[in-house]
Amino acid sequence: RAQMAAHSMALTEAMTRASDFYRAQLRGATNAITYLKGRGLTGEIAARFGLGYAPPGWDNLRSIFPDYEAVVLAEAGLVIDRVDEDGGNRKRYDRFRERVMFPIKNTKGQVIAFGGRVLDQGEPKYLNSPETPLFSKGHELYGLFEARQAIRDAGYVLVTEGYMDVVALAQMGFPQAVATLGTACTPFHVQKLLRQTDNVIFSFDGDKAGRRAARRALEACLPHVTDNKTIRFLFLPTEHDPDSYVRTYGREAFEQEIHEAMPLSQFLIKEAVGEHDLQSPEGRARVQFDAKPMLQAMTPTALRLQIVRGLAQLTQTSPSEIEVLYELAKPVAL
Ligand code: CTP
Ligand code: MN
Ligand code: MN
Ligand code: MN
Ligand code: MN
Repeated sequence: RAQMAAHSMALTEAMTRASDFYRAQLRGATNAITYLKGRGLTGEIAARFGLGYAPPGWDNLRSIFPDYEAVVLAEAGLVIDRVDEDGGNRKRYDRFRERVMFPIKNTKGQVIAFGGRVLDQGEPKYLNSPETPLFSKGHELYGLFEARQAIRDAGYVLVTEGYMDVVALAQMGFPQAVATLGTACTPFHVQKLLRQTDNVIFSFDGDKAGRRAARRALEACLPHVTDNKTIRFLFLPTEHDPDSYVRTYGREAFEQEIHEAMPLSQFLIKEAVGEHDLQSPEGRARVQFDAKPMLQAMTPTALRLQIVRGLAQLTQTSPSEIEVLYELAKPVAL
């Protein structure tokens, strides 16, 4: 255990040093600065998020890590070891090259991972740290450390998909935003979010992937939503993400979108209804069928009862018939 702690300290130390290096590199990097300015960011906001730049070249980290061969650098995901086909030569090189660097911090503010964006059309668009002893993608939310006070002040958190959504929203006056980093929103994320605030607004990209992400987020929320929590979903036009939307239409338009975000109850019913025909018994049965796993995932809350009522009305049944049909646990009598 003591050894583990010492080890994670070495990892954290390596990440901090790398982060300092990338930040220092951004200062002279006119191409990266031009790129960030082109995306509407000020130096102030770049500093707030500790943005950096990994210059071109295969072993720039050598200059800050005298022992470039140290095991810890590979474990931190800062370098990659390539072993030749014949198993002979091992060649080590920097993972991040020629990318704008977004440090991902834990809630203590320690850098635990990076996301790196290409400056042009290169692939992959974002390169992320691998899973390491410090970093597990399904648990961390980008920007949470930076957003914590703003979330308390605003009374809600905005949950987006990407690095640029968080940074651009902060720039445009919405510092209460975090991102799930392109992965689906997990139950861990939901629990982490609900520890910060009673109000969560998901704002994913307007495209198909974003809609799917919203559905997955809904499913991740169902076991954890309680009657003192409000979860809503903000759906953007197909061609936009929060970054592009707020830049195109401005702060007030996004404020209005937040105001009009769809409550979880409405989204759940909308998902169940889908394209089914509420005019036919088969269609109504199908809607109930599609709603069943979602309602079964919820704990017995007043909100679940409300959704059951809405569904009953829509499908010409009674709430108690639905409860029997779904074998829903009765709320505990207080
Ligand atoms: N992502 C990733 N790897 C990729 C593409 C995406 O890790 N190759 C993650 C990143 O965290 C990214 C998020 O998924 O921020 C959302 O992806 P996408 O919408 O494609 O990117 P944007 O954040 O909109 O990127 P940008 O605005 O910089 O083009
Ligand atoms: Mn996308
Ligand atoms: Mn984008
Ligand atoms: Mn996007
Ligand atoms: Mn369906």
